[in-house]
Amino acid sequence: MSATNFSTTTAATVSTTAPAATPTAATPTAATGIAPVLTAPPAPTAANSPALQAAIARGAIAILGTGSHAPKNIVTNDDLARQGIDTTDEWIRTRTGISSRHIGANGEATSDFATRAAQAALADAGLTPADIDLIIIATLTPDLPMPACATLVQQKLGARADIPCFDLNAACTGFLYALDTAWAMVASGRYKHALIAGAEKLSSILDWQDRNTCVLFGDGAGAAIIGATRARKSTFAGSHFSPLRAGTLPPEIIGVRLYCTPDTELLHIPVGGSLRPHTAGTYAQRQHYVQMKGKKIFKIAVREMERAAREILEQHNLTTNQIALVIPHQANRRIIDAIAKNLNYPPDRIFVNLDRYGNTSAASIPIALDEARRSGRVHPGDTTLFLAFGAGLTYGSALVRW
Ligand code: COA
Repeated sequence: MSATNFSTTTAATVSTTAPAATPTAATPTAATGIAPVLTAPPAPTAANSPALQAAIARGAIAILGTGSHAPKNIVTNDDLARQGIDTTDEWIRTRTGISSRHIGANGEATSDFATRAAQAALADAGLTPADIDLIIIATLTPDLPMPACATLVQQKLGARADIPCFDLNAACTGFLYALDTAWAMVASGRYKHALIAGAEKLSSILDWQDRNTCVLFGDGAGAAIIGATRARKSTFAGSHFSPLRAGTLPPEIIGVRLYCTPDTELLHIPVGGSLRPHTAGTYAQRQHYVQMKGKKIFKIAVREMERAAREILEQHNLTTNQIALVIPHQANRRIIDAIAKNLNYPPDRIFVNLDRYGNTSAASIPIALDEARRSGRVHPGDTTLFLAFGAGLTYGSALVRW
């Protein structure tokens, strides 16, 4: 069975897409066929304002906008059973909390989802592709081994041709790794607006004959714009705010903690890299697909996300009472419930959307963040806690004030 021949139960687009941008700086010249490199510094904009410079000096770097996108094909648990996978809706829902997931079509790729999410995030931030001077895509399913998915997003967005664009692979923790990287690069004062996205087409690396893994994952992307805090008018009802006004704490990335404890065979794809390139034999043994020891991962995920939460709260002298909303990696409802119980944190203040997406790896947190904001779960002044865990084993936490 291929990843993309499922019948579609519901065809609802969850895109929050802004109109496609017209390519500008990256358009190849007729004479050379090569995109011209901009040499002139960007024209002064609001991004160079004294208020912004002051914010940079204070280190107040914030998430200025978010967006998300998922392919329109929705595949329910019953659809999977109907397609011949030896499973039931009841098993998947009770063991994981997942009811359905989005699966990309043939011809759709990770950069398409990331670009749509990025367009929505830019619209939310009130910016255009020309304002972006750094693109980082967190993904383990880039369109191609090379070039980087970020370069394809740059091209599809029509972003500037003189900016760094690169991918980052920290599996399901990828968005927090990208957040920390972009935060540091913007805080250095060398970049004004970073576009970061977590984006995946996991359906392309799943073994659709392995019920232990294929029912758990889905496709999609979430994006955020990272920049020094400035006054802005959010597109979300009820969340207009002007963070630089007197007496108000600016929205801010308060802290990020990243970890990696090597255990490289609990969740991996055994072949396809420089150590073990594909051969006819490895294809026949289906070794080019995701393999996972689910029970072991489950226990470590609970333990390490709890640890990442405790350590970041302690570092910033915060208690769980001061966290308005937790946005965890969306892998399994029982993992999330166990963390809530261990931290003695009210489950109704944890954002969960895995029932409709499954585990979308690096896209999981930014999709959840965008949905949380758009559904009114995040308010000015709120502090949110992000918790992530993934292959590697990578894990981490982040605190963001809005
Ligand atoms: N449908 C029906 N039965 C299934 C099934 C499916 N999709 N997948 C596995 N089973 C079967 C197993 O074969 C096993 O059968 P057996 O007892 O006859 O051998 C039985 O269900 C129980 O399997 P078990 O592994 O004990 O289930 P579990 O309660 O541990 O749940 C996971 C399995 C994968 C859902 C759970 O371990 C998990 O979520 N782990 C974390 C995975 C994860 O989040 N990874 C990503 C981290 S970023």
